[in-house]
Amino acid sequence: MEAKLRTTKKEETKSLGAFCARFFRSGDVVLLKGDLGAGKTTFTGGVAKGLGIEEDVISPTFNIMKCYFKGSLPMYHIDAYRLENQNTEIGLDEYIEGDGVCLIEWPMYIEKLLPDEFLEISLHNVGGDEREIVFRSDSPRFDELIKSLQEEFYENRIAA
Ligand SMILES: Nc1ncnc2c1ncn2[C@@H]1O[C@H](COP(=O)(O)OP(=O)(O)OP(=O)(O)O)[C@@H](O)[C@H]1O
Ligand SMILES: [Mg+2]
Repeated sequence: MEAKLRTTKKEETKSLGAFCARFFRSGDVVLLKGDLGAGKTTFTGGVAKGLGIEEDVISPTFNIMKCYFKGSLPMYHIDAYRLENQNTEIGLDEYIEGDGVCLIEWPMYIEKLLPDEFLEISLHNVGGDEREIVFRSDSPRFDELIKSLQEEFYENRIAA
């Protein structure tokens, strides 16, 4: 299933994240794809807000992973950018399908660690502050969320 939406400012991308947060459960894995500056961390900040996490979400690029425990669900934010072509056996598997929701930027760099079930979010900078954001999953686990995104953000949708 798929939902294609458009945002025109960062607050809208955050709102999408906050909306998604209420659907997330322990063990959910969210892959965030898209170029540098596409909005992956911005979206994750919205998820944090939706989970009631008050800390700012900053890019964990230099830490690989950041954990947030003060929300309604543990949130693990992985940025695999710096792991490109390196050893990925550094214990991240404990957090992927762990006891919280795990959001992964640059997931292609830790391909071997990825589970079969995930929500994939592809963000694309189409110029200025406009982003095209595609939510997709083969897993029925995320059907309800994707359907709700289509309904709730009807005005943001990109016609097929
Ligand atoms: N509609 C929008 N949605 C999200 N971010 C936007 C939007 N318009 C402008 N921006 C800006 O684009 C930038 C997105 O940065 P962000 O750190 O979220 O990207 P990223 O995909 O995580 O990049 P990286 O791969 O470097 O980690 C921010 O500076 C944000 O303010
Ligand atoms: Mg980022």
